[in-house]
Amino acid sequence: MSRYPELQQELEHRRKKGLQRMLRTTEYVAECQGTWIVSNGQKLLNLSSNNYLGLSHDPRLLNTWQLTANTFGAGGTSSRLVVGNSSCYHHTEQIISRWKEREATLLFANGYMANLGCISALLDRHSAIYSDRLNHASIVDGTILSRASHYRYRHNDYEHLQYLLQKHKEKHRRNLIVTDTVFSMDGDKANIEELIKIKHDYGAFLMVDEAHASGVYGETGAGLCHQLGVHQEVDILMGTCSKALGLYGAYVCADQVLIDYLVHTCRPLIYSTSLPPALVTAIGHSVAIVQQEEWRRQELHRKSNQFRTQLQQAGLLVPSGDSPIVPLLLGDNQTAIEYSNRLEQAGILAVAIRPPTVPEDSARIRFSLMATHSDEDIAWAAHQTIQTAMELGVIT
Ligand SMILES: Cc1ncc(COP(=O)(O)O)c(C=O)c1O
Repeated sequence: MSRYPELQQELEHRRKKGLQRMLRTTEYVAECQGTWIVSNGQKLLNLSSNNYLGLSHDPRLLNTWQLTANTFGAGGTSSRLVVGNSSCYHHTEQIISRWKEREATLLFANGYMANLGCISALLDRHSAIYSDRLNHASIVDGTILSRASHYRYRHNDYEHLQYLLQKHKEKHRRNLIVTDTVFSMDGDKANIEELIKIKHDYGAFLMVDEAHASGVYGETGAGLCHQLGVHQEVDILMGTCSKALGLYGAYVCADQVLIDYLVHTCRPLIYSTSLPPALVTAIGHSVAIVQQEEWRRQELHRKSNQFRTQLQQAGLLVPSGDSPIVPLLLGDNQTAIEYSNRLEQAGILAVAIRPPTVPEDSARIRFSLMATHSDEDIAWAAHQTIQTAMELGVIT
């Protein structure tokens, strides 16, 4: 009997609803650069990482990391505002500012902290945030922390957004519209051009989260806003180093004055130890690779489209799109778990995503592709996915 029967009961309740979570132990297959993974002693094709460009195991990045650690040490040692602001930071932030074509950049510990810190620094209880319903949890949590009024508009529904702005904006000192540019669980996109128009019409700030677009869209991989040529018009451009860059960390790009303001007010930046310098330097190196190696983006898109099309042609409920995120919509939690388990038995790691990560009754398998998957692996994975759908009666 547990010492905490109430907690035990709640866990049991979650299990019955198909909402149990577990920490899976994984190891990488050395020569496969992250495309294959070992879990429970089984070799599995990895269709669940955000390592879109296959850079997490790139020998150039590992080398940079090691060399920098030899000189600068293994840890950040203090907050950046004390003695943790190594010269590596300045260098990498300049690289990112040039890449994003923005005045200034601030690195953060991770994407969660960047959103949490930025939103809670810019807004207070006299402010309001207008946030897409499917935005990432870190945006929601930053909003709660800020104590700003929280208005959630229906997903990509800008009439609803304008209705909310019209109704509430005068009550607040500062109004911020925030959206993911590519939504993490659906792979669909916000209409950034439309949002820029609305931002101007209502005198609001616009913040975009390019976590799943950075490295993936635009000629140099700078993101969706760059692909559209509107990156200068967005107030706050946020992105992560944990996905296409293959590393860890995040950044916010904006006008210098906004970055200065964050340095003075952003609590996760001020009251937390800086990132290890070796990682910061590796981030700069990864940006350079992402800019130069366009073939990675081309391969990623080609393979994602191939996989998506194969599933759609078999009659599976897979929304159209062009991102490397390919969701297979199943609805109920138990079907999603069973589907994922069967794929695992067949040799594919593709995890089931359930509420609250996605809305109720929209459990799914979230496939995510990598530039470095082989064509054979992708074709085989599509075949296994379709077979599984037939076994489970998802398609006939
Ligand atoms: C849209 C979005 N924003 C932010 C984050 C958080 O980034 P990180 O994993 O670097 O904390 C994620 C990661 O899952 C994400 O999908």
